[in-house]
Amino acid sequence: MLKDLLISNRSYRGYDETVKVTEEALERLVDLTRYAASGANLQPLKYYPVCGKEQLRILHPLTRWAKALKDRKLPHDGKYPTAYLIVCVDTKICKNPQACGTDIGIAAQTILLGAVEAGLGGCMLGNFDREEVKKAFSFAEHLEPALILAIGRPDEKVVLTDADESGKTTYYRDENDVHYVPKRRLSELLIRVEEKS
Ligand SMILES: Cc1cc2nc3c(=O)[nH]c(=O)nc-3n(C[C@H](O)[C@H](O)[C@H](O)COP(=O)(O)O)c2cc1C
Repeated sequence: MLKDLLISNRSYRGYDETVKVTEEALERLVDLTRYAASGANLQPLKYYPVCGKEQLRILHPLTRWAKALKDRKLPHDGKYPTAYLIVCVDTKICKNPQACGTDIGIAAQTILLGAVEAGLGGCMLGNFDREEVKKAFSFAEHLEPALILAIGRPDEKVVLTDADESGKTTYYRDENDVHYVPKRRLSELLIRVEEKS
């Protein structure tokens, strides 16, 4: 079950814009993070839901997608996510946002797995201007945007492949816009130390 969810949990960059995501659905996803681990149990993360037309219009152009695919504009027009969660570090709880990376990763994966279970999908977006986003949504000084999660009904094909011996892991697309994601093999991930006799 978990493996199936993980396999379906790809970074999607094309969505069915006719499928709206409600604020309640976003709240249910955020609720899942309450059960996740947090360094020193500080729970310093706060989430800003974006699913209204006007707010989506503001956020879409502030997101940057698929840096490795320079020849394509993604998402394609008409294929944008219908919601986002802006993950912020509350610096009143944790002064150093840099120290919250593990919390952010755990929370992001939790939310995206919840999205997949609910028939949706998403993409983590770390490539954006933090100050620009903070200003666009008039966040209070102590809320530092750290990661954006795009969420919607995926509408594109993503295929996992085994990375070859060259070690190249850059994702790519074919002429039909199918997205391929090379993953390293298990044997490459395991560290084996020769036992001395
Ligand atoms: C911390 C983090 C930040 C990311 N930022 C972006 C981003 O700004 N834009 C984007 O299109 N994808 C982004 N991604 C998605 C990665 O490109 C994606 O995880 C990788 O290509 C592997 O694909 P997969 O998630 O389907 O396994 C990010 C992923 C992570 C974990």
